[in-house]
Amino acid sequence: MIRLKNEEQLNGIRRSCEMLSQLMAHIGPMVKPGVSTGEIDAETRSYTESRGGRSWFLGYDGYPGSLCISVNEEVIHGIPGKRRLVEGDIVGLDCGIDLGGYFSDSAITLPVGQVSEELEKLMRITRECLVRGIAAIKPGARVHDISRAVFAHATANGYGVVRQYCGHGVGFEAHEDPQIPNYVSPGPNPRLVPGMVIAIEPMINLGKGDVKVLDDDWTVITLDRKPSAHYEHTVAVLPDGTPEILTSWSMP
Ligand code: MF3
Ligand code: CO
Repeated sequence: MIRLKNEEQLNGIRRSCEMLSQLMAHIGPMVKPGVSTGEIDAETRSYTESRGGRSWFLGYDGYPGSLCISVNEEVIHGIPGKRRLVEGDIVGLDCGIDLGGYFSDSAITLPVGQVSEELEKLMRITRECLVRGIAAIKPGARVHDISRAVFAHATANGYGVVRQYCGHGVGFEAHEDPQIPNYVSPGPNPRLVPGMVIAIEPMINLGKGDVKVLDDDWTVITLDRKPSAHYEHTVAVLPDGTPEILTSWSMP
């Protein structure tokens, strides 16, 4: 069931997204050679809680972190800990805040220092996939128009698209209907109507799209161990059928 949001509820989600954007602007610059992923996790938690928010990741299905940090061949759901980032890594930061019962969700992949041109391109194309997916939101459009836009741009560049994990509705809960796949699936294809709030999150691999979960039961890695990038925005469909991007981040 897709739960549409009224203007007052959308304003609550906007505030949650605004805090999340500020959080990401705060932790993004921590991504430097030598920092541990656990340090970014601790900062995420204290920053969010000191502003009256709650990281909804913490405790979600037993998840132990306040954000997911996924390095190189890790696609999503990497658990923060002792690992230290090194020059040349690419690092996905995926965070979400519950602010007064309104949920936001966003992810960015950042370079650690100088990274290879191959990785720069993977990150750029994945961002472009997100931008194109958002741009597919138009009056009369459907979920699969987003999926098709993301998939077409990734595959045109020779990249693999992750199929096992999808974007999703968001706002009243972390994960709501509808699913937003990054490929044209045989599944439900609802129309994108005013009041919908969705998280669009392409996960794009340098190699093939296949992934598996590590023994920690969380970390998703590429099967071929090649690097992966992930960007995510929370987006609302406005009364005129056009998108409003509620989260924001910037690249270095
Ligand atoms: N942020 C992820 C998503 O986009 C979900 C993370 S689940 C958690 O849906 F348990 F790792 F927090
Ligand atoms: Co999400």
